[in-house]
Amino acid sequence: MESSENKTCVFSPGRPITIISNRAPYQLRKHFGQLHHEKNIGGLVSVLDEIMCQSGGTWIAWGEKGDIPEQVGIPLDRPRYSLRLIHLTDLEVNQYYHGFSNRVLWPLSHYFLDRCHFGSEYWNGYREVNEKFAKAFREGSQDQDLIWIHDFHLTLLPSLLRRDRPNLSIGFFWHIPFPASPVFRVLPWREEILRGLLGSDLIGFQLPLHAENFFQSVEDVVKVPVNRDSSSINYDGRIIRVGVFPVGIDFDKWNDLASSPPLAERARELSKEVGVENIILGVDRLDYTKGILERLYAYERLLEKYPEFHSRVCMIQIAVPSRTRVEEYRTLRREIDETIGRITGRFSKRKWIPLRYLYRAFAIEDLVAYYLAADLALITPLRDGMNLVAKEYVASRMQEDGSLILSEFTGAAATLTDAILVNPYDIEGLADAIHFALCMPKDEKHRRMKQLRCAVKDKDIYWWCASFLKSLAGEKEEN
Ligand code: UDP
Ligand code: G6P
Repeated sequence: MESSENKTCVFSPGRPITIISNRAPYQLRKHFGQLHHEKNIGGLVSVLDEIMCQSGGTWIAWGEKGDIPEQVGIPLDRPRYSLRLIHLTDLEVNQYYHGFSNRVLWPLSHYFLDRCHFGSEYWNGYREVNEKFAKAFREGSQDQDLIWIHDFHLTLLPSLLRRDRPNLSIGFFWHIPFPASPVFRVLPWREEILRGLLGSDLIGFQLPLHAENFFQSVEDVVKVPVNRDSSSINYDGRIIRVGVFPVGIDFDKWNDLASSPPLAERARELSKEVGVENIILGVDRLDYTKGILERLYAYERLLEKYPEFHSRVCMIQIAVPSRTRVEEYRTLRREIDETIGRITGRFSKRKWIPLRYLYRAFAIEDLVAYYLAADLALITPLRDGMNLVAKEYVASRMQEDGSLILSEFTGAAATLTDAILVNPYDIEGLADAIHFALCMPKDEKHRRMKQLRCAVKDKDIYWWCASFLKSLAGEKEEN
């Protein structure tokens, strides 16, 4: 099996990279005095860990309290980069992470206005933690570093870092959707957030639509000139560039794993155990943006409407526990449990269980086995910045078979145009799309999967990293 470890990042900026994000790539634990690390789940960390293992540098992120050193080499056995952890108090975690990040910016950016809780205590905590990150950066980083800040947790950081060191090269990547201006403007702290982001030299988005929404918000709120032709904003005597860089995955790594005989064998065992003609797979963090409930309703509708598929299909839903201290996530978990109970109670017969629900996180080798066993991936978020699971499924289908049903409201839909694109809110339409996929001739599946694989391979994680960093490094040289 060819290993993707042999590959190098296609662009090396020639300067140390410092990544700053809320979520650390690993959770560190001490067991009998020995330090262990376990990978955290989520699109952002999946992608950046690959890159940092290739390029080296420093990653600054929030780390759990406990008897853990503040700086460690990652991976622990063969360090490739340095991870610096910022410890937060329980109050800070509540206000900054559970509060402002997950009950204000997350729902707002995904157009769930009724789930926003605009508490000023959340905002104060958010500001303080952004200051804390700035302080940690100041204490251990160099002026010549390329700084790459990630996601909505740290919007104030670019201008805090710029205030201290005006010549830093600061890139910011917004991984989630950037909402339309009338929605963004609902945020009481809209101006502070935009001015915070404008401390960057380069701001990256997943889609042209998100970049346009950002431009419009800056025009409406900050009232400074934006230049859509040159994709830039003139602010505070500086030119800030805005770019579109859709996040990719390490195609070869997923393809190689899927080609490994032990994983192919595990996938065969899994299919045998489930014992149906067609396995339908959903893989998500348990999040209301992912459309899990709507997907379950659509599956239930499929079973109602097309009884000929009874005993012939099984849906496997993997739901990774996420943000479990936030009320909205707990409520959703209960609703999903109830819906799954209803569907299995209603349709199970003899040996056939129509639905299997796995509420836990899997290592990527296990995910590959599921991707290989699944004839159809059902990826139907109500809104998603990108959705890497869709790309991972495609990269794992090295036999160029299997089908992908994909929500048109994901960033991935912009490039994965050969998927069966659906409106995830349309339950009847989704049930029919599943039926359409299950009945699709082999040739047509093959044609689509081939195209999908080209799209995922073409703009992979290395392309993403290189385009962003090149743009960031070039930006400073031109000024
Ligand atoms: N993932 C994982 N184990 C699981 C389920 C998901 O490692 O059991 C990973 C998956 O491989 C993907 C990431 O979690 O890389 C989810 O990224 P995505 O962009 O789909 O959604 P996000 O969680 O970032 O909203
Ligand atoms: C999305 C966000 C990431 C976040 C991930 C997991 O992908 O864009 O910033 O890390 O979800 O969420 P969590 O709250 O567990 O970090």
